[in-house]
Amino acid sequence: MASYLQIADDEKGHDLDLFCVPRHYESDLDKVIIPHGLIMDRTERLARDIIQDMGGHHIVALCVLKGGYKFFADLLDYIKVLNHNSDKSVPLTVDFIRVKSYCNDKSTNSVRVIGGDELSNLSGKNVLIVEDIVETGRTMQTLLSLLNECNPKMVKVVSLLVKRTPRSSGYRPDYIGFEVPDAFLVGYALDYNEYFRDLSHICILNDQAKEKYKV
Ligand code: IMP
Ligand code: MG
Repeated sequence: MASYLQIADDEKGHDLDLFCVPRHYESDLDKVIIPHGLIMDRTERLARDIIQDMGGHHIVALCVLKGGYKFFADLLDYIKVLNHNSDKSVPLTVDFIRVKSYCNDKSTNSVRVIGGDELSNLSGKNVLIVEDIVETGRTMQTLLSLLNECNPKMVKVVSLLVKRTPRSSGYRPDYIGFEVPDAFLVGYALDYNEYFRDLSHICILNDQAKEKYKV
């Protein structure tokens, strides 16, 4: 079972005033739940765990866009540091896929691949899927079944966040950064209708903002 840093349901978070938050979002957020520095520290350790398990062979890191792009870039930077500084190093290449499952703050039943690289390129490869957050697990289960049709040699999934929610299908990634309460989170590339990707910390969105940015 993957270990993770647990953010409790009664976690009070940190006042926005203690951190730098873009002025244009100040009234939209309640609390900082995971400061950027903590995300980076946990990501550094995930990089080490992944290389310990998957190292030795060429890894194709598959970024699930758009929400995964920050975590993907930072995780790969940490993997590069390990490659630079150890006797064993592993070639790393990157692929991108774009999926859409969300409207406003609700997961929809349809998970659609709406662009990116051809999954068939991943045949015979060791693939590391890099995702921002697993909620119901439907996006990842859909992606995994599409990928398995292409016969990769190995597939592992790392998700920065997993939500504790009764809507979960029970799916758990191989590597998890944090387990988080059942709230709508934004920042560090997680969005609400495309807003808040330009925020470094992971924060809870308030109800007023859900109305303000609704489509
Ligand atoms: P799932 O298919 O229900 O597991 O949802 C996964 C996708 O929904 C993630 O990749 C995100 O893009 C999006 N998502 C789920 N929860 C949140 C959230 O709290 N904030 C932002 N996006 C979310
Ligand atoms: Mg995502």
